Amino acid sequence: MEKMRMESVDMVEKNIDKLASVFPNCIRETKDENGNLKRGINFTALKQMLSTELIEGDEAFELSWVGKRTAIVDANKPTRKTLRPRKDRSVNWDSTENIYIEGDNFDVLKVLQESYLHKVKLIYIDPPYNTGKNYIYRNDFSVDEDEFAEQAGLIDEEGAKLTANPVGSARFHSAWLSMMYQRLLLARNLLSPDGVFICAIDENEFANLANILKEVFGESGYEHSYVSVVHNPRGQQGNNFSYVNEYLIFVYPADGNKYLADFPKDEIDSRNLRDSGTESDRTDARMCFYPFYVKDRKIIGIGEVPSNDYHPASANILREDGSYEIWPITDNGDEKKWRYARQSVERIFEKLEAKPGRNTIQIIFNKDEGTMRSVWANARYDSSEYGTKLLDKLLGGCSFTFPKSLYAVYDCVKAATREDKDAIVMDFFSGSATTAHAVMKLNSEDNGKRKFIMVQLPENLDEALVRGGTDAKTKASIQSAIKMLDKLGYEHTICGIGEERIRKAGAQILEEKPLETESVDVGFRVFELDSSNMNDVYYEANDYSQGMLSMLESNVKADRTDIDLLFGCLLEWGLPLSMPYSSEEIDGYTVHTYNKGDLIACFDENISDSVVKEIAKRQPLRAVFRDSSFEGSPSKINVSEIFKMLAPDTRVKVI
Ligand SMILES: C[S@@+](CC[C@H](N)C(=O)[O-])C[C@H]1O[C@@H](n2cnc3c(N)ncnc32)[C@H](O)[C@@H]1O
Repeated sequence: MEKMRMESVDMVEKNIDKLASVFPNCIRETKDENGNLKRGINFTALKQMLSTELIEGDEAFELSWVGKRTAIVDANKPTRKTLRPRKDRSVNWDSTENIYIEGDNFDVLKVLQESYLHKVKLIYIDPPYNTGKNYIYRNDFSVDEDEFAEQAGLIDEEGAKLTANPVGSARFHSAWLSMMYQRLLLARNLLSPDGVFICAIDENEFANLANILKEVFGESGYEHSYVSVVHNPRGQQGNNFSYVNEYLIFVYPADGNKYLADFPKDEIDSRNLRDSGTESDRTDARMCFYPFYVKDRKIIGIGEVPSNDYHPASANILREDGSYEIWPITDNGDEKKWRYARQSVERIFEKLEAKPGRNTIQIIFNKDEGTMRSVWANARYDSSEYGTKLLDKLLGGCSFTFPKSLYAVYDCVKAATREDKDAIVMDFFSGSATTAHAVMKLNSEDNGKRKFIMVQLPENLDEALVRGGTDAKTKASIQSAIKMLDKLGYEHTICGIGEERIRKAGAQILEEKPLETESVDVGFRVFELDSSNMNDVYYEANDYSQGMLSMLESNVKADRTDIDLLFGCLLEWGLPLSMPYSSEEIDGYTVHTYNKGDLIACFDENISDSVVKEIAKRQPLRAVFRDSSFEGSPSKINVSEIFKMLAPDTRVKVI
């Protein structure tokens, strides 16, 4: 039992608690003078978190590797990159709340820091496993001449960073760890306080990843659990072991609350209540033939056993009040029986669920519900069957290397968001977009409104072929992908595959649309990571004088549209990317209104007082103009006056 302390609170402990909640990676286990374990601060790490310069010092009591501190410095550096809308590649641009972002997730995570701070309920990632065959993006990277020459052709336009990481290279683990560590630091900020983080990994980096997750999330605030997933039941032959599993690391708040949904002990245990096999006909047990009443996916009642000569017209019969009568009848019209008799079915009512089948609503019996198990061995996690083959079928012969089983990801999403059907679910190593598919599927089954954010590097498939190191099977799959992308007229990138998968999966979900399902959001807004919208030289904040300004044509890059600018402003102001907006003409000037007045923007030059007044009258929360729009300071002062008078609470900024 815990002892009374009989003394005032230990302020040092309190202070360590406070620091731990903000910088868990700076908390270390150390020993006091008697050799007892106690918590302490790693001041070098803390200094590093607070500095843009590299701090010298020991990296003790932690997993350390070459480049770790540089990784932290880079993670904390701001980026000037932005996200540009790609309406042409999007689906249902105006109404969807799903987001697909093309770009290196390192920058993307930085760009999203304001808009999605503490808003994401589930982050699921499946990063490159560091098998020695992956190419990874490194931000801590400085290469010597020879290395540089060797890697020429892999360097992108900004002199970075896609590099081979072969087994045996001096920095084999370090390079991968730095890549992961800095992304995890950024990702953690986006997770909501009750959020869950899940990372898939295989045996190569499992131990290291588990360590850095403990560092990044801390051990006092978060529980860390390891699930073994049998994804390859046939096994991959190693020297001493046949590998049949990989891992999921679950990180979730450790405050004693329940954050993960109960699951049927094994999903296979959730069975159709309609009996099958021998002695499963209506005539085998008269009391097992009766209707369930289902409305809006809920079982609202159970009917009585009818007389023997009553034969329902079909398995699902629509009733006048909009509910359905559900009978144990097959697609062929055979009258079967339920597994429970009318008089005993109420005992298991809590475990029954109405679920859409292929053509009809079915009654499902969830047996033995309990907490999830730490070994997932069901056949549904087979990544060949429900990853490769499922994708191949969906995309008509185009494959992708090692997609996850749809059900492995689906069960993760379900476990973390069953109670929160509005959750934002993010995957910043999206690959073939299995996570987006899983989110839409789950929504279609429980009328959820979960939204996804996918991030994927536009990895070029032609280059992947040229750079070699890939086996024949992988090559063939890349070639099949290129063929499909050609047919669609898309660029040859992994993003093309992911986006097409979401399109196809969405169409399939709508087609199979279970009766009664409200419309599922199968659209997505595509954004592309790009350099700043502003011409750098002209935009160093306090750096320019009025005289300079008049010399400049524009501080906005010539190829950027109003909508590019609008979204750039949203990100800086911390507004989400998924809200509706409209554009209109006022006195010949174009005015954009985001989410009914969260922000109003006009990026035209020389705008008139009347337009400024009209905008101010609407009292938006925020207003943005172009600095150069006001030729001289007097009219700028005028704008401030107008807002002070008509909309004193509006925050006004210029770009
Ligand atoms: C193991 S795959 C994910 C597979 C995915 N879960 C699926 O089921 O298809 C990892 C993906 O991360 C992408 N990737 C690697 N580095 C990235 C980066 N820096 N930013 C964004 N995506 C990256 C790779 O292109 C690859 O598609």
